Amino acid sequence: MGKDYTPLVATIDIGTTSTRAILFDYHGQEVAKHQIEYSTSAQDDIKRKRSQIISSEGISLTVSDDLEVESVDNKAGPTLQFPQPGWVECRPSHILANAVQCLAACLVTMENKNLDRDEKNKYKLISIGVANMRETTVVWSKKTGKPLYNGIVWNDTRNNDIVDEYTAKYSEKEREEMRTLCGCPISTYFSATKFRWLLKHVPEVKQAYDNADGDLMFGTIDSWLIYHLTNEKSHVTDVTNASRTNFMNIETNKYDDRLLKFWDVDTSKVILPEIRSSAEVYGHFKVPHLESIGYVESYLTDDALALLETIEGAPLAGCLGDQSASLVGQLAVRKGDAKCTYGTGAFLLYNTGDQTLISEHGALTTVGYWFPGLDESEDGKHSSKPQYALEGSIAVAGSVVQWLRDNLRLISKAQDVGPLASQVDNSGGVVFVPAFSGLFAPYWDSNSRGTIFGLTQYTSASHIARAALEGVCFQTRAILKAMISDAGASADFLEESSKATGHNPLSVLAVDGGMSKSDEMMQIQADILGPCVTVRRSINPECTALGAAIAAGFGVPKEDRIWGSLKECTEAILEGNKMYLAAGNTSLDFKATLSDEVRRKEWRLWENAIAKAKG
Ligand code: G3P
Repeated sequence: MGKDYTPLVATIDIGTTSTRAILFDYHGQEVAKHQIEYSTSAQDDIKRKRSQIISSEGISLTVSDDLEVESVDNKAGPTLQFPQPGWVECRPSHILANAVQCLAACLVTMENKNLDRDEKNKYKLISIGVANMRETTVVWSKKTGKPLYNGIVWNDTRNNDIVDEYTAKYSEKEREEMRTLCGCPISTYFSATKFRWLLKHVPEVKQAYDNADGDLMFGTIDSWLIYHLTNEKSHVTDVTNASRTNFMNIETNKYDDRLLKFWDVDTSKVILPEIRSSAEVYGHFKVPHLESIGYVESYLTDDALALLETIEGAPLAGCLGDQSASLVGQLAVRKGDAKCTYGTGAFLLYNTGDQTLISEHGALTTVGYWFPGLDESEDGKHSSKPQYALEGSIAVAGSVVQWLRDNLRLISKAQDVGPLASQVDNSGGVVFVPAFSGLFAPYWDSNSRGTIFGLTQYTSASHIARAALEGVCFQTRAILKAMISDAGASADFLEESSKATGHNPLSVLAVDGGMSKSDEMMQIQADILGPCVTVRRSINPECTALGAAIAAGFGVPKEDRIWGSLKECTEAILEGNKMYLAAGNTSLDFKATLSDEVRRKEWRLWENAIAKAKG
């Protein structure tokens, strides 16, 4: 490396239920980490306002009391809100404050570690990357920076009326043309229907649009964050996030007039973020003054503010939608690599290299990542062109566990679900279709709702817990089947293991995310996929954040980079993984133990349940 300091890259990872910041070193190992769970109830919020946020080093980062002066986010309430059935909102100013507080906490840790390091080896932050929940839509005023409405979260289904309206407005052929152009169908999931909902139902947004005076800003969470965290107030998004809006042409990676016309979006009335690559300098860090968007300026202690000011000017140089970020963080950077992340939802991405593949079986075409600064000759097979993926998205994964905990009170903490489910060998005929937000891939039915079939007097909490986990795993199998078919191969081996050829696409499924930590859940997944697919849990538990850190590592000019090439980066991280394992951490492969016959029978039950859930 030849540098007289030890370089670190930071990621701010905005998830659906929490925000975290992590500092990574050359080997992809965590040097500092801080996470803030979102408040979801008024009580939570009061607690949050009263308490100081303390870093992992025990240092107070925020002032106590009155974190907010008053509500100016349009509506008061906690960070994550569920105001009506099917509605999921987040407060953009809270998300911004959380992000800055997490970063401050990491800097405290870094500074403390620096006390024990020689002058020449002190840690220094080189660049900052962003990973974020995708599709979540925010609109704000350019004049004030304030949101005009809460963020509408990706799994919100209030926009069903818009889905129906646009499905009726266009013929099947026109809808198919739209899907082929942008890679995603009409659905409540993507940003276009969320933006149309805002225009239709929120007078302030409609007014700002009609004024056409250059004030209405549209963006996903990455854009909202980068806008407020950069000195330049850069209004940008990266290709991976833009590929989830329905507005970007998946081949050109630019907004497409045909798509904007399809969605009746007039860009003289709303400012869309500029689409950029996933690794380049978008702007330079500046501590945001949240006072202007609703927070008292002292949302940070003087100490935290002083520390953050030391990194002002650091480049924000990486941005990836969280699922693309975990593809990179899993090092699934070669064509044919696949990963599945089990977060709030579950998302299986299959790397298709620099070629787009339009699915015939319900998968989405999405951008995996685009690191234009990679040097092709150094990286051999790695390409500096945009890299694509087929994606199968499952709306409900970790959130079904939260539902078992918070709504049914079957468990007191999420980690208890695996042990509860494994008290029984099977679900006793119970099939749980967790379609709380409709069904995503490969079924795409916005009107389906969560349904539990097969209850009898014999059914216990364990059967329901097991069926809930199986519901996620069956959808993963359905997606895998769709992708194998799209890759032009036969998926018969999922039914009949003797039909495996030894060259099956997707013979290893790399997994990460919260639910993947449960051995019981991963064994259920392996059983449902059968003996021809190995479920391999990632060694590094923070693949999403690591992926965005890799992006930020390649986004800066060559002389400042932490890794010289993607090959060097991969090798360094694999070496880091070995060190992690040597420190006593485990990585595990899970393999099926169920017979083909039982697996086939259970799959039939699932398919029947899906048909009924769709009504
Ligand atoms: O598309 C939604 C996805 O980006 C959310 O990810 O990890 O919050 O479930 P996660």
